[in-house]
Amino acid sequence: MNFNRNRRLRTSQSVRDLVRETTLTTNDFVLPIFVMEGSGKKEPIASMPGVFRHSLDLLKEEIKDLYKHGIKAVNVYVKVSDNLKDNTGKESWNPDGLMQAAIKLIKDTEPNMIVMPDVALDPYSVYGHDGIIEKGEVINDATVDALVRMSLSHAEAGADFVAPSDMMDGRTFAIRQAFEENGFTNIGIISYAAKYASAFYGPFRSALDSAPVDNQEIPKDKKTYQMDFANSREAIREVLDDVDEGADIIMIKPGMPNLDIVAKVREIITQPIAVYQVSGEYAMLKAASQNGWLDNDKVILESLHSIKRAGADLIFTYFAKEASLLLNK
Ligand code: PBG
Repeated sequence: MNFNRNRRLRTSQSVRDLVRETTLTTNDFVLPIFVMEGSGKKEPIASMPGVFRHSLDLLKEEIKDLYKHGIKAVNVYVKVSDNLKDNTGKESWNPDGLMQAAIKLIKDTEPNMIVMPDVALDPYSVYGHDGIIEKGEVINDATVDALVRMSLSHAEAGADFVAPSDMMDGRTFAIRQAFEENGFTNIGIISYAAKYASAFYGPFRSALDSAPVDNQEIPKDKKTYQMDFANSREAIREVLDDVDEGADIIMIKPGMPNLDIVAKVREIITQPIAVYQVSGEYAMLKAASQNGWLDNDKVILESLHSIKRAGADLIFTYFAKEASLLLNK
């Protein structure tokens, strides 16, 4: 027997504040943003209420607004028009491409905004895969060569970090080597190290029109490169490989379904960990909130605290702006 009364430390908000273990701030957030061609365009994404694709002119206003809200980092995705898609993804390293223009525009608008362009072929692929396809398979090494060209073009445009989300083997080392050889020693790599083949990416794929196309000749899903969601040890191996290859920050994704992995990795590596609360996680919380089934503000803060508590240093989240308003209220 003892006199333990754990409720003593929960008696008032002041006491609870004193013993609170996890502090979430706007500094933790990276906002993923979607960019499109044209001007004057701000298109809603049906499956992600409150999230839009912006044309470059409107992106400029959005970046200023985000910075005012204290958001200091954006992860950039582009919606590429169909006529620019092929199997090589060569539009992805076009120095005058939409991504390269977006990177320049963001840095010109707000030089302190950290720009993290996505590196992967799927928005540029006619097949909607993250790699080049040969004989019905996504081939690794030729894809890595393409990712290196893409990363160099992002570096030339002014990116602060590149964020390879493709899950090809060896790409982190290849990108690091190319950066070192080309004078981009200070540009970082945030590598998606443990990325699961997840159905929670659905809304994102409709935002970019980047889902694998229905075609007998190609793999119907991404399971030959993204991880099986049943595996845990494999995530550790992926993370250690990427650290060894020179990743500055490692990513685990999706977020809430994989907090056990986040906590495990936190015990093992010293590098910062990023966790991506993905489109499907956003969509389910928003949909339930809009139906009045969940309290929007409360579930945003609870979900983000749980990710931070598990061990995330950075959180990629579509709630970044809403959450920063709530935190700074
Ligand atoms: C593609 C990529 C995906 C996401 C980020 N980069 C989708 C996929 O792998 O099919 C998902 C992000 C989200 O769902 O919010 N390289």
